[in-house]
Amino acid sequence: MQSEFTQLLLQWHTNENTRSMPWKGEKDPYKIWLSEIILQQTRVEQGWSYYEKFIAAFPTVTHLARANEKKVFKLWEGLGYYTRCKNLIATARILANDHKGVFPHTYEAIKALPGIGPYTAAAIASFAFNEPHAVVDGNVQRIIARYFGISTPVDTTAGKKLYQELAQSLLDTCKPGIYNQAIMDFGAVVCKPQNPLCDSCVQQADCEAYNHNLVNQLPVKQKKPVRKERWLYYFLIEYKGKLYIKQRTAKDIWENLFEFVLFESPAAVAEIRPGMPFLKKLLKGRSFAIESISRMYRQQLTHQTLHGRFIRLSVTEPLSSLNDYQLVDKKQLEQYAFPRFITTYLNETVAPAQLF
Ligand code: ADE
Repeated sequence: MQSEFTQLLLQWHTNENTRSMPWKGEKDPYKIWLSEIILQQTRVEQGWSYYEKFIAAFPTVTHLARANEKKVFKLWEGLGYYTRCKNLIATARILANDHKGVFPHTYEAIKALPGIGPYTAAAIASFAFNEPHAVVDGNVQRIIARYFGISTPVDTTAGKKLYQELAQSLLDTCKPGIYNQAIMDFGAVVCKPQNPLCDSCVQQADCEAYNHNLVNQLPVKQKKPVRKERWLYYFLIEYKGKLYIKQRTAKDIWENLFEFVLFESPAAVAEIRPGMPFLKKLLKGRSFAIESISRMYRQQLTHQTLHGRFIRLSVTEPLSSLNDYQLVDKKQLEQYAFPRFITTYLNETVAPAQLF
């Protein structure tokens, strides 16, 4: 028996949901997987063109598995949260090597692949294989908290279990793919975090939050997110028309992306000057001049605020202190994937090929 909520949700989906997206109704698990990985931390409007670029470049999982890693990262450039891209490549290779390029058909087997958690597994399993698993993310938790008037915090063990169970109980097990798409869209279009469309909502009559004027109080979170501030000073050091760059390897933001010579500080540096200890150590007494210092750039990530400047200088001898860096011709820079923080500066300054 379908609940009242489920019936009304599906009616809304059929009659009123006009949200269109390139992957909607898609049955190919590879394409569904790709779209869901992109949408894990990216808005639909931003992810759309990336999805199309990826499908054009790699029409099947085998194409992706055989692709040059650098090329895949380059295509991902600008989307952020690069662990997704690393896992995309890892999963494509597992599927190509161990599964003959065929996606597994069950929720559990799908969830065992790198980068695929319960939400993404439920989306792929239900869209592609009609497996009865409800998607549960912050959007679904918000809808449930409001509809049932639940104030259990969503970020507690008890809360997660409760919302998971309720979400699963609401699923239309005959049409899990359609139901999951409907609830995702309902959260994005109607039961939005801010300014939800309660006045025209099909669930209004039985929505506890609406009836008790609690829509803006639900859902509840226990912890306030802690925001970290980071200051990044990038030195674009030129030697004979080439620049020093290095790939980031740490388990941190931008893993696998390239960057210039970095001085990171937990607080703003009052003044960038030739005598600052970082530069003295790097240049070991060689003469150089600071050619330019950019404005302050800022980027907001989910849990961190990044600030930083870009400083250009040239040297006449290679720097032994930068042995673990690559010296790359300025014209070749475009072939490397840089974080958006850096490409914003490069694009704003001049085309990378004419950097200096
Ligand atoms: N968010 C994540 N997956 C989605 C999908 N398939 N449709 C809409 N929003 C989504």
